[in-house]
Amino acid sequence: MDGNEFVNKLKAENESILAKIDEPPIASGIPNGELLATLIKMALKNEMEAAEIAAEWVSTTQELPAKLALARHAGDEARHYQLIEEKARAMRVPLEGFRPLDPPSPVLTYLRTLTTTPERVAAALVAREAMGGRRNVQFLAFLDRIGQHDLAALYRDVINPDEDCHHRSGCAVLAELATAPETQQAARRAAVSLLETGDRVRSKALQSTGAPVIPGC
Ligand SMILES: [Fe+2]
Ligand SMILES: [Fe+2]
Repeated sequence: MDGNEFVNKLKAENESILAKIDEPPIASGIPNGELLATLIKMALKNEMEAAEIAAEWVSTTQELPAKLALARHAGDEARHYQLIEEKARAMRVPLEGFRPLDPPSPVLTYLRTLTTTPERVAAALVAREAMGGRRNVQFLAFLDRIGQHDLAALYRDVINPDEDCHHRSGCAVLAELATAPETQQAARRAAVSLLETGDRVRSKALQSTGAPVIPGC
């Protein structure tokens, strides 16, 4: 299987795991206004963790296209953080004492165990950005539903197109790198583990917050 065939197969496999995100949510009865502050903090945490891990990897990634994709990813996620934070402050969401990296989520902890470029790209860009993009489509619909059109527009116009771009850049880089069967196996394992970890985190967050949706990165 060449690199392109492998990436197409991986994307199809990932999609079958990600389809779970589209299952209809269970209504909690918690007022949406109360949930919004919690969800915004979750979004900020995800954006910051995505920026953090990509930035950590830039200097230890030798392959230039991957290095550039990670550097761009880090910068974009930092910008998402700042743009959401700006909206949060305008909406008077209290952020005093909020520490987005403390403690690290299981997703960030898992990503930090990855040492090879194909594994990192498969997990952080190909899988995680597909997961984030899919969650954000739901989050955007939720924001529109509760009348938060300003924040919804940020997701529609900036964040979601960027997450899609990160996913696609990861696919292009991985297709070049994952040409050997062992590399493909390692990349696939990393993508599946990332999605499973992300799913566990999401299920727990849905339960603990009573939220109908969870934002991505
Ligand atoms: Fe992203
Ligand atoms: Fe993002």
